[in-house]
Amino acid sequence: MSKVTTSAPVRAGVVGLGWAGQQHMAGYHDLPGVELVALAGMEEHLLTELGDRYSVPGRYSTLEAMLAEADLDVLSIATPTALHAPMAIAALGAGVHVLCEKPMAPTAADAERMAEAAQAADRVLEITFNKRHRAPARTLRRLVADGVLGRVYYAKAGWVRRKGIPGLGTWFTRKESAGGGPMMDIGIHALDLALHVLGEPGVRTVSASTYAEFGPRGLGGGTYGAGALAGEESPVYEVEDLGAAMLRLDDDATLMLEASWAQFVDHDRLYLELYGTHGGAVIEVEGPLAPRIHVTTDVDGIPANLTPDMLPDAGHEANVADFVALVRDGSADARGQMGLLRTHVIDACYSSAEQGSEVTL
Ligand SMILES: NC(=O)c1ccc[n+]([C@@H]2O[C@H](COP(=O)([O-])OP(=O)(O)OC[C@H]3O[C@@H](n4cnc5c(N)ncnc54)[C@H](O)[C@@H]3O)[C@@H](O)[C@H]2O)c1
Repeated sequence: MSKVTTSAPVRAGVVGLGWAGQQHMAGYHDLPGVELVALAGMEEHLLTELGDRYSVPGRYSTLEAMLAEADLDVLSIATPTALHAPMAIAALGAGVHVLCEKPMAPTAADAERMAEAAQAADRVLEITFNKRHRAPARTLRRLVADGVLGRVYYAKAGWVRRKGIPGLGTWFTRKESAGGGPMMDIGIHALDLALHVLGEPGVRTVSASTYAEFGPRGLGGGTYGAGALAGEESPVYEVEDLGAAMLRLDDDATLMLEASWAQFVDHDRLYLELYGTHGGAVIEVEGPLAPRIHVTTDVDGIPANLTPDMLPDAGHEANVADFVALVRDGSADARGQMGLLRTHVIDACYSSAEQGSEVTL
């Protein structure tokens, strides 16, 4: 496949100037052999501020202008979710490798079109699942791969928040621009943690419920994501604020998945719990106890509670580095497949909740 073969720096661009886009900028800026040459977004003050901070010469208000003028090798997309598919397809069609923020797209159909565009253009398409690089997740992945827990047959994963609706009334809480609520926004991180740590089992069926108990009342707004629209008495709220699902996995394991932006929980928490034939483990990636890993097992028949030393912590910079390495290696596998599977699962959660019955993938 086409790859960046010369020793010339990889020319990188980022579209989207919010929190997510800024993580990609820092990742490219700090990576040897990469030049961050262009930024695009609609906030002029951020284009100036971030362009100056990272010494980026190209500053654009649209992706179209950036693609036409900046001669990019790679592009990170960190815009509202509904723009991921059209932007990725345009960039891939222009011969640019794409690293797209999660969630890949609002629907599995959009995600399929992105993967097809990557295949047709012979370009890398990767989705940013950054939580899997956090220290507890890396450590648990190693323990599971080494068989320390035995066969894992039951898992629970979730990200729950007391008061964390991002941007109440902004694109985050509109169905058309966000695609969904916390299942799509943060449940997908918990889903990725579980599937990644378990070694990528397939998902056979999904049975889910969703609720919207806070957002429609204008409650539950937090400080996450784009700032909430100030002063709106009835902010637009068209998505769920809590989702819960039971997933049957290929290897007969069960995964319980939950995600909430607003819920009467005692504290916010992104976690994964695994229960296997030889041990159990819990990790907390976000929350007051994070970073945390705890393993429960038997040592010579004696119950033991272990606190393993953790592998080094990382975040978006690891996704950016992995992506650039794939571009350089010309990997033919990186066509958004992992993102696609996760999008299909979230899609199935919404279908199941709507139908009130189990959905087979
Ligand atoms: N991986 C993570 O941990 C993480 C964290 C936060 C957000 N995200 C994801 O990143 C994406 C962006 O989230 P955010 O919180 O940074 O959003 P944000 O609303 O803060 O920023 C969105 C950016 O997109 C730009 N934009 C919107 N429409 C545009 C257009 N037509 N052309 C060019 N630029 C346009 C805006 O100008 C803005 O700079 C979302 O998909 C979100 O789910 C991921």
